[in-house]
Amino acid sequence: MRFALYVLCIPFYASPMELKYIALTDPLYGYLVKCRSHTGDSVLRALRSETDALGDISKMQISEEQGSFMSLLVAAIGAKSAIEVGTFTGYSSICISRGLGQDGRLICVDESKEWTDIAQKYWSQAGVNQRIELRLGPAIPLLQKLEPRLIFDFAFIDASKTEYDAYYELLLPRIRPNGLILFDNMLWGGKVAQPDAHDKDTDALRALKLLFIDAGTRDEWNLDLGARILTRRLAALGVPFQHQEFDDGHRGINYRYDVSLPKLAAALGAT
Ligand SMILES: C[S@@+](CC[C@H](N)C(=O)[O-])C[C@H]1O[C@@H](n2cnc3c(N)ncnc32)[C@H](O)[C@@H]1O
Repeated sequence: MRFALYVLCIPFYASPMELKYIALTDPLYGYLVKCRSHTGDSVLRALRSETDALGDISKMQISEEQGSFMSLLVAAIGAKSAIEVGTFTGYSSICISRGLGQDGRLICVDESKEWTDIAQKYWSQAGVNQRIELRLGPAIPLLQKLEPRLIFDFAFIDASKTEYDAYYELLLPRIRPNGLILFDNMLWGGKVAQPDAHDKDTDALRALKLLFIDAGTRDEWNLDLGARILTRRLAALGVPFQHQEFDDGHRGINYRYDVSLPKLAAALGAT
C-alpha cells in the first residue's frame, strides 16, 4: 500500500513574531484533499453516500482525508493490532484495517446494532471483514472486559466525549510502548477555545487536554503514569505482584515491584 502525506508548513524566513500556521482557506483545503490517497475508492464512496442518506446523523462520520491519513498513520507505525471505540457505519474502521494489512486485527466497539450492520456490509465489500471483530454494547464495560492478553499498537477513540477519559485510562495500559492513541474531535468544532462554551462535551474535552499536557510536562506525573500503566498491565494479565511506593528524596514517587522477570517482560509486551 502506498500513501502520500502533505504537511502544512510556512516558509522558514517567517519572522519570530508571525504565527506559525497558514489559515486554511476553502481553495487551499480543496487543493490539499484532491492530493490525498484513496480518492478513487468506490467502497468508501458508496459507504459515504449510504451514510449521507441517514440525514443529519451522518456528520458523525470522519472526513475522507482523515480516513486517508489514518490508513497512513496505522501503516507508518507498523501497527498489526488495533482497537476502535465508536464505529458508526464503518468508515474509519475500513481505513484502519487497510493500514493494518492482511495479517492485522481490529476490534470495533459500538453500542448501535443499526449502524454497525451497515459497517459490516461494507467490511465485506472492502474485503476486510476477516480482520475485524465487532463487540456490540456500551464501551466502558466492554473495555473493562477486554481479555488480559490483548495489547494494541493503535487505538482510535470516537464515541462519547464525556467518556474519553475513561477510554483513555482503560486503554493506556494496553498500548504497546511507542504505540498510538488517536482521539477524534479534540477541538469540538472550535468550541474548546471559546471561553463561554461550557456544555458537558466541551468541558470534558478541555479536561482531557489538560491531562495530556500534564502527562507530557511533569516529570513526577510521568513517573507516576509509567508506574500506573505497569501496575494495571500486570493486573490485567493476572500476574501476581506486589508493589511498594517509597520516597528516596528525588522528585516524585518511586515504585518497587515484586514480580518475576519473565512475567514483567510479558507485561511490557517484550515477549
Ligand atoms: C462519531 S460516531 C463514530 C464515527 C466513526 N468513527 C466513523 O468513522 O464513521 C460515534 C459512535 O459511537 C457510538 N457510541 C457513542 N457512545 C457510545 C458508548 N458509550 N458506548 C459504545 N458506543 C458508543 C455511537 O453508536 C456511534 O456509532
